[in-house]
Amino acid sequence: GKDKELVRESWESLGKNKVPHGVVMFTRLFELDPNLLSLFPYNMKNGSMQDCLSSPEFLEHVAKVMLVIDAAVSNLDDLNSLEDYLINLGRKHEAVGVKIQSFAVVGESLLYMLQRSLGPAYTAALRQAWLNVYGFVVAAMSSGWRE
Ligand code: HEM
Repeated sequence: GKDKELVRESWESLGKNKVPHGVVMFTRLFELDPNLLSLFPYNMKNGSMQDCLSSPEFLEHVAKVMLVIDAAVSNLDDLNSLEDYLINLGRKHEAVGVKIQSFAVVGESLLYMLQRSLGPAYTAALRQAWLNVYGFVVAAMSSGWRE
């Protein structure tokens, strides 16, 4: 349908290398909730946002996040096929101390990045289409939480 096309086309229009977009997303995330910085073990030395954002391990995590979103966009016709993977991924995030509520801020940061990158192509319909995809990912990840 039209929603899937909006999501696919907008994701493609970001270009092949999604990491810089992921950095914009996570920079926004840390602005909105600086406490999340402490959940990444790569910036133990002094905990500054710049140190975290420039560490190779952190950029690897950003790349991993973008790959998960890419997998969702590639499987819009059968999102359920990702469910087991996402439940397990949620379990791993529970183990590193992420709270389910934080995924709402991650979603806001994703939309912020899309808005900034897409400009006028970022419409209310596109926003809603992305919210649906992201909502599926979060719902599946959240069901991995044990408490
Ligand atoms: C792994 C933190 C959101 C995808 C990790 C790890 C940490 C972490 C500390 C383990 C170390 C590492 O692999 O770098 C966080 C925090 C988040 C967040 C604090 C936001 C509050 C997300 C989201 C996704 C994601 C939204 C994807 C939709 C992954 C993947 C791994 C990972 C794929 C690797 C899991 C594995 O080793 O099998 N995350 N994460 N993360 N994260 Fe996140």
